Amino acid sequence: MNPPQIYAERTLAIVKPDAMDKVVEIEDIILRNGFTILQKRKVHLSPEQASDFYVEHYGKMFFPSLVAYMSSAPITVFVLVKNKAIAAWRELIGPTNPFKARETHPGCLRDTYGKDQTRNAVHGSDSFHSAEREIRFMFHDSIVEPIAVGQATKDY
Ligand code: TYD
Ligand code: MG
Repeated sequence: MNPPQIYAERTLAIVKPDAMDKVVEIEDIILRNGFTILQKRKVHLSPEQASDFYVEHYGKMFFPSLVAYMSSAPITVFVLVKNKAIAAWRELIGPTNPFKARETHPGCLRDTYGKDQTRNAVHGSDSFHSAEREIRFMFHDSIVEPIAVGQATKDY
């Protein structure tokens, strides 16, 4: 007889440059909300890598500032696991715009840590397809090199 199969969804979370001083606090919130951290690394994207990561937004007005911001300083990327992780993480981070988040989802991560529409503290994959692509991008293609262990915030 085969052992029972348990399916747990995974998603990609990012603590963006403006919230890196709060990464330990945010990691705590992640764990308290029932996510398991499967993988974690601190990386500093080049502008080319940031463009590739956000390629779906290529051509939009905000694309150049988004790429400049996301490549301006290190970020921390996580693979999170939970039942319905993609929707659960999006719910916890809240709407894209922190000012809107403040009104409709008070206490969400973008309300608490976001500064403006671009510097909105955290990222979350928006679908199964993008989660798999983003996880592969950050952890398997190895185009993104991890920063030395000594600079990390916790146990990398
Ligand atoms: P988007 O995928 O629309 O939002 P989300 O991160 O909630 O999935 O946009 C990607 C990022 O681009 C967003 O987190 C912040 C930035 N952005 C801007 O700088 N200006 C904008 O007007 C929008 C819509 C997004
Ligand atoms: Mg998005």
